[in-house]
Amino acid sequence: MCGIIGYIGFECEKNLYEGLKKLEYRGYDSSGMTTNRDGKFNTYKSIGRVENLSNKIIFNNKNGIGIAHTRWATHGNVTLQNAHPHFSEDEKIAIVHNGIIENYIDLKEKLISQGVKFYGESDTEVIAKHFKKDISLEKFKSVIDKLKGTYAILAISCNSDKIFFAKNKSPLYIALDKETVMFSSDISCFFGKFDKFYTLEDGEYGFADKNSIIFYKNSKKISKQCNEIKSKLCISSKGRFKHFMLKEIFESKKVGNNILKYIQTSKVTKLINDILKNDIEKIYLIGCGSAYNAGLIGKRFFRLYGYDADCILASEFEHENIFINNKTLCIFISQSGETYDTLKVLDLCKTKGGICLGITNVEYSTLSQKSDYLLSLNAGVEKAVASTKAYLAQVVMCCLLAIKMKYLSYDNYILDNKNYDIYKRFGKEYYNLDINLNESNLKEIAEFISCFKYVFYIGKGVDYDIALEGSLKLKEISYIFSLALPCLELKHGTLALIDENTVTIAICSEQNLIDKIISSSQEIKARGGKVILLTICDIEEQYNKNFDRIIKVSSSGKLNFLNIIISLQKIAYYVATIKCNNPDMPKNLAKSVTVE
Ligand code: AGP
Ligand code: GLU
Repeated sequence: MCGIIGYIGFECEKNLYEGLKKLEYRGYDSSGMTTNRDGKFNTYKSIGRVENLSNKIIFNNKNGIGIAHTRWATHGNVTLQNAHPHFSEDEKIAIVHNGIIENYIDLKEKLISQGVKFYGESDTEVIAKHFKKDISLEKFKSVIDKLKGTYAILAISCNSDKIFFAKNKSPLYIALDKETVMFSSDISCFFGKFDKFYTLEDGEYGFADKNSIIFYKNSKKISKQCNEIKSKLCISSKGRFKHFMLKEIFESKKVGNNILKYIQTSKVTKLINDILKNDIEKIYLIGCGSAYNAGLIGKRFFRLYGYDADCILASEFEHENIFINNKTLCIFISQSGETYDTLKVLDLCKTKGGICLGITNVEYSTLSQKSDYLLSLNAGVEKAVASTKAYLAQVVMCCLLAIKMKYLSYDNYILDNKNYDIYKRFGKEYYNLDINLNESNLKEIAEFISCFKYVFYIGKGVDYDIALEGSLKLKEISYIFSLALPCLELKHGTLALIDENTVTIAICSEQNLIDKIISSSQEIKARGGKVILLTICDIEEQYNKNFDRIIKVSSSGKLNFLNIIISLQKIAYYVATIKCNNPDMPKNLAKSVTVE
């Protein structure tokens, strides 16, 4: 949510603009930039995609200083007034902010009673309105001290050549070389430009000019270690695909195979052995959205291998009165590694002595840095906002982790033949992802679904977890109302909604459940609803009439539901494109949700 960038150096506007393009995944409601050139601010703002800014900006090669922002609105409509940077009343100070100022109404009322005028409704404007003429470190600190909430803030004055910064719970990184300083919400902006960067911790603040960065915490100057950037410049292109989302779905096979190799490395064996030394008694899988849906499947596998496991939504964790101690393994699943709700639970679990294992796709993310142990998804950059290959990677990682943990805790393991066989098959044939399957059938199903206003997804057991993800994917990018539920729950209420205006996607990956799906389908059809069956199971011909369409998906081996997941992702993608939506950047969403 929101990306912020600051830059001191040559070609300031160009570097800020390029940075904004890289951070656009964090929000694309509006974008803006302010640079200080010879004591005068130049400001550019526009609504929507960052590219809308490009023809407004006056680019300048000379040394300059500036800040920029791409917004995912939390407070205040999507308007130019609410687009960042925000300004002091005398327009001498400009600031950008990522986060939420929880006490902004109190602060705003106080300022209004002192005669200060506001031009918009955003919480961020309140920060800017505390300044006048220039910024000193003392003044900056005194304003930061008034704020309650989350923030990464950059501030500049038209009377100085410094960028002031502060961080609390929103990510902020700084890179520096001889004559250039760059701030960013994530380190992708530094690739190819810098070798080293600093990670700011909560409560740190300070200022930078072109030669140095001075850090403070609790009113004292501090020194900080910098990290090396090991990643190569990573440019992601759509290649032959029309959208990143489709490309990323097609990358699933490679991603799954990489995890299979990774989980068998000695590095992962050592990591698991270290975790096991703690005599784990309880496992929690924690995440939001798709990451949570992946955790649900992981939970089933941990239970299958004898662990006491639960999967909890990060945003609900604090209300569950969960007991955590040093025998509790807390597994945090997050594609971005920056999800605020998830990181908040990580902090909580750490204070209670829990063992924190991060599973993430972003090497330098906050989750990577804060976790006691880390498993990398290595799925490659996921650009589309709707997660596909990273979700599949999370599912595969959780399932294989459960199996490998059980295998390594061998001593206590009552090894029955079935489970031993599973471990022995931990090789090539473990799963067989078929990314090309049923392309024309899936397009035809998408055409069919796109005419409906209500789409239900039903399944049982793991198929219910998959149904949740299929439904989320459809909502995210097609904007069609959708609900997923266990098939036998239909009769406990939701059947009231079923009529000829609804279509239900029934999922079945286990032969012994096909009867349940058939009888749920009969209940739906009896009320005029349409049903599409997506299955890897065999179905007797006499039951074909219970479904309006049947899509047979090939089994993907031991994790036999993976091809169903891919099919559901493709259906959502095709529905979105039929409706002329941009599946890569769906409305109202952002790739990295760094606010509560
Ligand atoms: C996925 O399609 C969604 N955009 C969303 O639910 C996402 O999975 C969720 O916000 C969690 O993100 P994370 O994996 O980066 O923590
Ligand atoms: N609260 C600020 C706004 O609405 C920043 C939003 C964010 O960081 O997501 O403009």
